[in-house]
Amino acid sequence: MTPSLAFVPDVDESLAAVVESKLEIVERRLHEVVRTDDALARWTSRHLLDAGGKRVRPVLVLLAAALGDIDRPEVIDTAVLIELTHLATLYHDDVMDDASTRRGARTAHELWGNSVAILTGDFLFARASALSADLGPDAVRIHAHTFERLCMGQLHETVGPHDGEDPFQHYLGILSDKTASLIASAGELSALQAHAPAGTSEILRRYGERVGVAFQLADDVLDLRSDGSASGKTPGTDLREGVPTMPTLLLRARASQGDDTPATTELLSVLDDDLSDDARLARAVELLREDPSVEETEAMATSTAAEAIEILRELPAGPVRDSLIAFTTGLVVRTS
Ligand code: IPE
Ligand code: IPE
Ligand code: MG
Ligand code: MG
Repeated sequence: MTPSLAFVPDVDESLAAVVESKLEIVERRLHEVVRTDDALARWTSRHLLDAGGKRVRPVLVLLAAALGDIDRPEVIDTAVLIELTHLATLYHDDVMDDASTRRGARTAHELWGNSVAILTGDFLFARASALSADLGPDAVRIHAHTFERLCMGQLHETVGPHDGEDPFQHYLGILSDKTASLIASAGELSALQAHAPAGTSEILRRYGERVGVAFQLADDVLDLRSDGSASGKTPGTDLREGVPTMPTLLLRARASQGDDTPATTELLSVLDDDLSDDARLARAVELLREDPSVEETEAMATSTAAEAIEILRELPAGPVRDSLIAFTTGLVVRTS
């Protein structure tokens, strides 16, 4: 599948043509970089790469690079570095969330077992690290710091808030670390590698920190609203594993403030049930989908995206800034 800018509405035609042709190069380079003679790793590492994905982060790298010299060869490797790192986290995340589908394919741990899936993620991190070394010390430093935040985000999600910690602050911190950190690095590193004007990388880093949170909030909504064929993921995966998401946090906060209406009471009891049963999980998704917390999460995603767009307004006006604004909107209204 050739990645495209389909999720970004109304991009300037000539910019879109450049970005789409670069996306094809990124795609070829991704396959080149994961190549190995190892008979098993060859299959396991290509599994999710070949399964597709939106390539949101490479698109951001390329749009951001258009603020400088998009033709610098380092720009392609920056996109590859970021997408490879993302890919590695997906292998690990699916083990942690016990997810059964990803990008419309069966997850690696279901096909080859947890150990193989985890080691494949590690292999991809290793290849990404080698690429960062070729890009120079800025890339190594940014990549290492991002890698740490990705781990910390997943770790804090796993252990939950500590005593007395506000669950919303805790959750927003997780979103920043597990998702926004890599999106922030995509923009920051791209501006540096494309030799964009001074100050651009800092603006894009702040932008990424915001849009990344909006993106993950939209993902929480998608986990409930999508039918699985569009998202390529199994709806309700987080509910089944008891992973808190913004809708469930909002629902529980409302209940603790005295909402004991029959709909809320029923929903809470379904959520606290054993959701390993498919029919019970489907019922939980169906009930939660109707709960106001989902629309509230959607509104949070939209307002966080609006904050991200405000940061973009610090960039010079023009087609690239417009395309980044459109990209931001595309990320929160997406259906996959
Ligand atoms: C999924 O990311 C994980 C999150 C951080 C929400 P994407 O939605 O970008 O997944 P792909 O790359 O398109 O599969
Ligand atoms: C994914 O978080 C974040 C990382 C992979 C670091 P989620 O678990 O919420 O994402 P999906 O819904 O499985 O893609
Ligand atoms: Mg997951
Ligand atoms: Mg997860």
